[in-house]
Amino acid sequence: MPAVLAYAQPESSLLSFADTPVTDSWAFRDKTRKDTAYITHGYHRYPAKFIPQVAARLVETHSAPDDVVADVFAGCGTTLVEAKMLGRKALGTDINPVAAMITQAKITPINPATVEIAHEQLASALDTPALNTAMPDHERIDYWFMPEQKRQLAHCLNAIQRVKHQNLRQFFLCAFSNILKNCSIWAQKSNKPIRDYKKNPAHPIDALHRQIKAMKRGNAEFYARLQQEKYLDIPCTIDCRDARAFPAQDSTVGLVVTSPPYVTSYEYGDLHQLAALWLEHTDDVAQFRRLFIGSAYHKLTDELYNPYSPQAQSIVCDLSTISKKTALSVAHYFSSMANVFQEMHRMLKPKGKACIVIGNTKLKGVPIRNAEVFAEQLDSQGFRLQDVIKREIPSKNLPSVRNEQTGRFTKITDKNQMMAYPTEYILIAEKKT
Ligand SMILES: C[S@@+](CC[C@H](N)C(=O)[O-])C[C@H]1O[C@@H](n2cnc3c(N)ncnc32)[C@H](O)[C@@H]1O
Repeated sequence: MPAVLAYAQPESSLLSFADTPVTDSWAFRDKTRKDTAYITHGYHRYPAKFIPQVAARLVETHSAPDDVVADVFAGCGTTLVEAKMLGRKALGTDINPVAAMITQAKITPINPATVEIAHEQLASALDTPALNTAMPDHERIDYWFMPEQKRQLAHCLNAIQRVKHQNLRQFFLCAFSNILKNCSIWAQKSNKPIRDYKKNPAHPIDALHRQIKAMKRGNAEFYARLQQEKYLDIPCTIDCRDARAFPAQDSTVGLVVTSPPYVTSYEYGDLHQLAALWLEHTDDVAQFRRLFIGSAYHKLTDELYNPYSPQAQSIVCDLSTISKKTALSVAHYFSSMANVFQEMHRMLKPKGKACIVIGNTKLKGVPIRNAEVFAEQLDSQGFRLQDVIKREIPSKNLPSVRNEQTGRFTKITDKNQMMAYPTEYILIAEKKT
């Protein structure tokens, strides 16, 4: 019998948060896009990032000023930026080198006058015709970029790579990364790797200047606020590595605030392939995808993955009658997440807290109750669940989801949605010992 069929339905009734009332104050309905993109938060698009107001409130409420704050799935660094704004030391990991590059730029305040001079120097380098610019030689770059865009982008990258100061180079690389989609023929509204031959790609040098100009405003505000609070030198670091090997000593972290990846939802390896290829983080997109927890591309063996959760067993059981492949992906995902919670337990101080922001979804019609599974897993890994907050996600902040019929990413309001998280949960758990 294949192992995936060995998951048994639990006999007792399953934990459910469905009747948890919505806590209105967590919706931050009054916040505009400008508010959620303040300081450095608007540097780069990033799928499924949470709004800074959620991270800030969690850090403020659940950590002391001298606590270390961690985010094991840092993404584009929302938690880390907000922790620094609140004067907490912070550190994070993300397996995605593009995420680490974006986060590094976002957590690094630079004296605005220095950025100004560096931008002028970069502008003059870009105005100088390039004679021997090295052109990337990769079929995937030719797949996504027209020859003129490719030539100009190579010229931009070459000029950026010659910027000597590391922080300034990171700042410009982040700008470069964020213009790639607009400069490519990647269908503008799609989160899936689809080409649009009718698209008129942006002019790279103009797009780069516009992007840098917007980022300079964010940096100036970030710098001024940190300077005013005397927080400019508060340590804040990001490591590109697996959440299950977090770079913190045992029992040293006061608070974890994180939002995990979902299962077979966003393929971060696909979504960040443009930057990953240009910045030479990978030359093999297929392999790149398999780095991520929740990817549908893992090469799974038919073994029994222990999810440490009766709810997860039940979900895998339900899925295995519909699609063994999906059931196996979900079993693997939950088992990986149990290992992440184990790692969080290791690094947290006794009574340290973990705040997990997660929505429930559906796959092949089967409810994937991530929040309930994570609550059970946290319990099994030595945490005590203290609170479950249910928050509404106002429509302007809704993540995109896949449409069941077209497979394309769409907004949650689409009636054929395959997954649904117009609300999400914040689990607050305390380390028992
Ligand atoms: C929902 S996103 C986090 C977004 C983040 N809260 C923000 O505001 O930007 C989940 C992240 O998990 C990362 N991830 C996936 N597998 C990982 C792993 N094994 N170790 C560390 N990070 C991983 C993905 O790259 C992605 O950035």
